[in-house]
Amino acid sequence: MDLSKSWLLVSCLLMTCLPQSQGKVYPRDIHPNTPKFRRIWGGVESNTGPNFGGWLLRILNADGNFICGAAYYAPVIVITSANCIYPYSQSLEGVTVEGSAFSECDRENVADIETVKFPAKFIYQKLYMDVAVVRLREPVKGRLTEFIRLCTVKVQPKMQMVVFGWGFDNMEMHMPSSDPRNATVTIISAKECKRTFKSGLRLSSTSICASQPKNPRQCLYDGGSPLIYKKQLCGVVSFGSYCGDTSIPGMYTNIRRVRKFITDAEKSINGQDINSSTTLATKVTKKTKTKSNATMKSMKKPLYRSVMVDPMEC
Ligand SMILES: *[C@@H]1O[C@H](CO)[C@@H](O)[C@H](O)[C@H]1NC(C)=O
Ligand SMILES: *[C@@H]1O[C@H](CO)[C@@H](O)[C@H](O)[C@H]1NC(C)=O
Ligand SMILES: *[C@@H]1O[C@H](CO)[C@@H](O)[C@H](O)[C@H]1NC(C)=O
Repeated sequence: MDLSKSWLLVSCLLMTCLPQSQGKVYPRDIHPNTPKFRRIWGGVESNTGPNFGGWLLRILNADGNFICGAAYYAPVIVITSANCIYPYSQSLEGVTVEGSAFSECDRENVADIETVKFPAKFIYQKLYMDVAVVRLREPVKGRLTEFIRLCTVKVQPKMQMVVFGWGFDNMEMHMPSSDPRNATVTIISAKECKRTFKSGLRLSSTSICASQPKNPRQCLYDGGSPLIYKKQLCGVVSFGSYCGDTSIPGMYTNIRRVRKFITDAEKSINGQDINSSTTLATKVTKKTKTKSNATMKSMKKPLYRSVMVDPMEC
């Protein structure tokens, strides 16, 4: 019997072999060696209740405040914007990654960050290669947690994509929401994008632009937050745009153009290869914070409450 069959059998024996139509609640937490395909997001139709997909994550600072949106890519690998996380990368003590969906079976869905990898050519506050690979100490637990695939489609003008966020960039307009929201945006050409920036924007070859929703209240622009097309991660919210003026396009890093950096970083993390073309942020040396403390921290802040989902059984 092969591995996948025996895994299925074990799941069924544990009475957690759920029919497809009930959505995805996994029988166990992600393990450092969980193969990516076992937890790949199956699209909107596979979500459970108000859960957008277990791959939507947020990064919190040591005080438990929101820093960046992020996407879950592999057991210990998270993708976000380099500009967003860079200011925190020298002192990662207490910086955590938290799932946005939480089932009643879960005791915690937060993980500590070990290191952050930046592309060698990334320059802080510039658009080129604005992507970072966050390496976690341990996987984000949770029965709803999933991975998202990297974009394989060529991003073209007029394509409609979905961006996720909490609205932290939009605080002048209204309070950020405790639950994540989504908004549909339309990709525009680089030419059109440059035209709308009066002061001669130097759009990078790794950037894509999308028109913002007209209503600023629907604008979502939290740095590092995912932009998805169908079931794939095609962009992350990049540097430079804001919700104050939605006539100005939003800028995203084109995941397809930075794919090699991500997969190289992944290989280096998996193989512990020290010769990768990436730069490494300072390693966190102190390991004093306990898991229960991290959990308590994530529990006590009502603003960043996770979406609660009621699974069939634990
Ligand atoms: C966007 O949000 C709406 C309302 O919560 C939901 O029905 C829809 O499935 C979401 N779209 C995606 C792609 O998650
Ligand atoms: C790393 O690169 C150096 C030279 O740049 C080489 O000597 C060494 O063998 C490489 N190590 C690995 C593990 O590839
Ligand atoms: C939680 O962290 C505080 C410092 O922030 C520490 O004093 C306390 O002992 C920790 N609690 C546990 C249960 O580790």
